[in-house]
Amino acid sequence: MIHLNETLALQTVEGFLSLDDLTQLVTIMDTEHAATGWQPGHQADVVQAPPAAQEILHAATTRVLDILQRALPSVVSDGLWDYTELYAGQEIPAHIDGIHDPATPPRRIGRLGVTLAHSHAGGEFFIATTAHPAIWTGAVVGEAEGFSPGTPLTHRLPEGHRHGYTPDWLANASRTRWTAEAPAGTALAYGAQVIHGVLPVKEGRLRKFVTDLLDTPQQT
Ligand SMILES: [Fe+2]
Repeated sequence: MIHLNETLALQTVEGFLSLDDLTQLVTIMDTEHAATGWQPGHQADVVQAPPAAQEILHAATTRVLDILQRALPSVVSDGLWDYTELYAGQEIPAHIDGIHDPATPPRRIGRLGVTLAHSHAGGEFFIATTAHPAIWTGAVVGEAEGFSPGTPLTHRLPEGHRHGYTPDWLANASRTRWTAEAPAGTALAYGAQVIHGVLPVKEGRLRKFVTDLLDTPQQT
């Protein structure tokens, strides 16, 4: 049964990726870049990570699943991992990923992000909290959908949303920002209903991976 608390949870995993993992992933993504020429088409654009990267990231998630489950006990698997890069002047504005179709597994319980390489300045991940009621839809789910009775739902990004701007329902809600200081290789897990984003990159290139934390196995 999915509880509201886990959709609002935070958990870090220091050393999620070893130095060897990071070195391998840099090589994999540099090779991928050279082969495909992929560049972000717009701010916060993502591309699915190649299979060799999926393997390393999935193995890392499997190693620390018990740690993630302390804060997000309904999580049993990561989804497919996406990759993104942010350059000077780019950011990921505050948003909530949310729970799409809460009655139908796999449900997104949270998200898991890890930095591959930091920008030289800026680009910190943040979460935000607010007392403003505008983030809640008013909809409530319960046992019929696999949730604890009376679990409220936040607004969310529509499927396929590009993370490029703060949605209207959030833009006018005053909120308090909490900023993370985490080195490359530290995983940040946050519930699917947590407001979050990335501060503007001031200099250099920020390279990140991110995936869903799901209540249903997605990879073997
Ligand atoms: Fe997000």
